[in-house]
Amino acid sequence: MSELAIKGGEPVRTKPFPRWPVFDEREGDAIREVLHSGVWGIGGTKKKEFEEKFAAYQDARYGVAVTNGTAALETALRAAGISTGDEVIMPAYTFMATATAVLHVGGLPVFADIEPDTYTLDPEKVEAAITGKTRAVLPVHIGGRPANMDEMVRIAQKNNLLIIEDACQAWGAEWRNGKVGAIGDLGTFSFQSSKNITSGEGGIVVTNDRKLYELCWSYHNCGRVMNGEWYRHDVPGTNCRMTEFQAAILLVQLTRLEEHTKTRNENATYLSEKMSKIDGVEPLKQDPRVTNHAYHLFTFRYNAGGFDGLPKDEFVEALRAEGIPCSPGYRPLYKEAFMLNLANDRSLSREYGERADYSRVQLPVTEKACYEEAVWFFQNMLLGTREDMNDILDAVLKIKENVNTLTF
Ligand SMILES: Cc1ncc(COP(=O)(O)O)c(C=O)c1O
Repeated sequence: MSELAIKGGEPVRTKPFPRWPVFDEREGDAIREVLHSGVWGIGGTKKKEFEEKFAAYQDARYGVAVTNGTAALETALRAAGISTGDEVIMPAYTFMATATAVLHVGGLPVFADIEPDTYTLDPEKVEAAITGKTRAVLPVHIGGRPANMDEMVRIAQKNNLLIIEDACQAWGAEWRNGKVGAIGDLGTFSFQSSKNITSGEGGIVVTNDRKLYELCWSYHNCGRVMNGEWYRHDVPGTNCRMTEFQAAILLVQLTRLEEHTKTRNENATYLSEKMSKIDGVEPLKQDPRVTNHAYHLFTFRYNAGGFDGLPKDEFVEALRAEGIPCSPGYRPLYKEAFMLNLANDRSLSREYGERADYSRVQLPVTEKACYEEAVWFFQNMLLGTREDMNDILDAVLKIKENVNTLTF
């Protein structure tokens, strides 16, 4: 029996996992090219080239590159015409920006529960959350796994709703061989530092709809009109344009995405197969309709029953001590102070009454995932070798075999 690292024993691993971001001299050359061109923003070619290439990569007709994923969500929501009085259905198992973007345009996030075996929006719960004020559904392809887009499209068509996909973690992800982002009306991506392709910060909105594209373009560019006069502003837009430097880096990053995604998938499949044989750690469901998983996160369901009742947070601490980076993940969004404080927001209360009081929300699957089950590994770990994956499995097994040495 080997002593657990959290008790002072030798960790399974002391080596780091592959470093992120991956880059080489090509990023350096691209930045220098922009630098010496003297055109760092408007008037350059890189942003446009990236918009075209990334949109095409996502099977979308149009792209508008912006400063970050949060701005992408807000741009998409504004183009969709979401504003005061409108409800938008979304999961509470997501990053806070999914909800704040809706709040920033004056809409109300309405949380629906997730499926227990995929952690993406549960279509039945979406249908149950629809009211006369619902204008859009906002599925999140969390961790890079597409939500059930067949059902999202069916529900949206039946109820005359828009679909805005939060694909901020899902570059290249496919639902039944179609890339996410423009399966719905609009889709948003992030290129923030941790993301599978990155320029430090960055984002893009994609769509197949010309009118929505022009509205996004206008909103992100001070309300200007495409091909219009410089000082003509038809909508109260903002400035959230991506710079030429960001676009130049992303054009290089994009060339590695396919190969990286393949490696992540191979390692994730291996980990899933091995973990599914260990009682107490269950990978999320493999679904043949997910024809490409972006694996921003590798998420599994921890079951304390397989570890003598060891609570999730203590399992996470023990795993980290063994040299395996991991996270217990999100807390239910509606439990965050910024959401609970909305009950005191006078304009929201006037518009939405007690629906703006999130202390009333209870989503059992989300809460179980957050508090008891979900554990994440990060995308850079999946760029490692088979030996790296075996270290992860060895560390899980070591905790399982020695859990009786822990007091909790
Ligand atoms: C699901 C999700 N939505 C939105 C965002 C916001 O993106 P950004 O951090 O680029 O503003 C993120 C990124 O952190 C995200 O993971």
